[in-house]
Amino acid sequence: GKPILPYDEIGAERLSQLVDAFYARVAMHPKLKPIFPDDLTETARKQKQFMTQYLGGPNIYSEEHGHPRLKARHNPFPITPERAQAWLECMNEAMDEIGLTGKFRETFYNRLVLTAHHMVNEPDSEE
Ligand code: HEM
Repeated sequence: GKPILPYDEIGAERLSQLVDAFYARVAMHPKLKPIFPDDLTETARKQKQFMTQYLGGPNIYSEEHGHPRLKARHNPFPITPERAQAWLECMNEAMDEIGLTGKFRETFYNRLVLTAHHMVNEPDSEE
């Protein structure tokens, strides 16, 4: 039969919960808060679209915004190794919060680690 997509495994509802739990943490994180907008509504909406297609679901991000070009879209923001780590910590905690477990979580998280490291565009500050 038709192979099961990671997107179908998590489902739109839980993916949405994950992204909301994630940005609630970003909004409070001392290393992330300063580089994000105060209102994360639009950011979360785009991230839900992006992760839908990242997990093999419909290409709803690209339909609205064009090719993701994620690295280029992150260029205006100073993404240090410390901030990549902070991003991943927020994601790990969000996964705990919604009770994401098992092989799916492991595979998804490992992929996010690679993408997060790829976004780094500046060294850690020496302060
Ligand atoms: C947008 C930071 C990693 C996906 C953004 C924005 C910031 C940011 C500041 C702009 C928010 C806005 O203006 O609304 C970071 C940092 C990361 C990181 C510090 C640490 C490595 C990632 C990863 C992914 C991702 C790993 C995907 C798996 C996105 C998407 C957007 C975005 C889809 C919206 C782009 C758009 O405007 O269309 N990120 N990001 N980011 N980020 Fe990241």
